[in-house]
Amino acid sequence: MKLISGRKELLKHLDSHKGTLGLVPTMGALHEGHLSLVKKAISENDTVLVTIFVNPTQFNNPEDLEKYPKTLEEDLSLLNSVDQGIIVFAPSIEELYGEEVTSKEYFFDGLDKVMEGAFRPGHFNGVATVVQKLFELIRPDKAYFGEKDFQQLQIVRNLARTLPFSLQIVGCPIVREAQGLAMSSRNRLLSEEMRKKAGLIYQTLEKARCMFGTENATKVIAYVKEVFSAQKDMDLEYFQIADEETLTPVMKKQKNRKYRGFIAVYAEGIRLIDNIAMN
Ligand code: PAJ
Repeated sequence: MKLISGRKELLKHLDSHKGTLGLVPTMGALHEGHLSLVKKAISENDTVLVTIFVNPTQFNNPEDLEKYPKTLEEDLSLLNSVDQGIIVFAPSIEELYGEEVTSKEYFFDGLDKVMEGAFRPGHFNGVATVVQKLFELIRPDKAYFGEKDFQQLQIVRNLARTLPFSLQIVGCPIVREAQGLAMSSRNRLLSEEMRKKAGLIYQTLEKARCMFGTENATKVIAYVKEVFSAQKDMDLEYFQIADEETLTPVMKKQKNRKYRGFIAVYAEGIRLIDNIAMN
């Protein structure tokens, strides 16, 4: 395992690598979800680089940034247990941003205006800014992103198409805890009890998917609202059924289109997101 924190050292190290390079960008506090991306990258590339960087510009809420778990030592030993040849790039904010810790303004054809984009203003400009910095610096052949953040995945695909070099974005399926809760670095901020109980989010998505076979979106949305209004310590922020490509909300299924149900819930004050294929 090679841990690098400087841009120059990284470039020097990458100069000597041969074959294809796979990139897995993360914010650390690694779990099996992240590791599934790393394992896929290892199976498809000669060299794998994992970045660990808690990107300040994508946090619209300073308290959320403050609370975000930081576990570098643990992360490194997890990665080492997967493969000792992984390169880890964990820069400081200054190393990656220089003096100006700000986001660029992007145009994502509406992909950034709904759901996470609507509830977390500026979030996707921050994500795209850091992802573009990493792509330009590292120039990987392939980059791996989880469907856990499906809207982010579609935005990164859109971003990659605008870059002047070729890069394949690989989407990876959601990894879940035993009770169905999508794995997330934020789950470690939940009580043990809530970690089990929050499986309700996925169970509700599964029911919504079944309903959407026969009912229109309005009925399915009403059902999901009802489930969470009965929960004392869980608050639904949104549930929407949207077209997978355009992310625009839909009311009724149409032939030859794929749909997903997207949800955000506050549990014990921690914001959790998930999604499910509705077809
Ligand atoms: P982070 O939340 O650390 O996630 C890093 C990558 O792991 C993302 O592509 C995310 O979708 C994926 N991931 C997280 N949980 C997963 C799960 N349960 N199953 C499958 N994949 C999962 O997403 C970010 O960081 C940041 O926005 C980043 C892209 C690094 C830019 O700062």
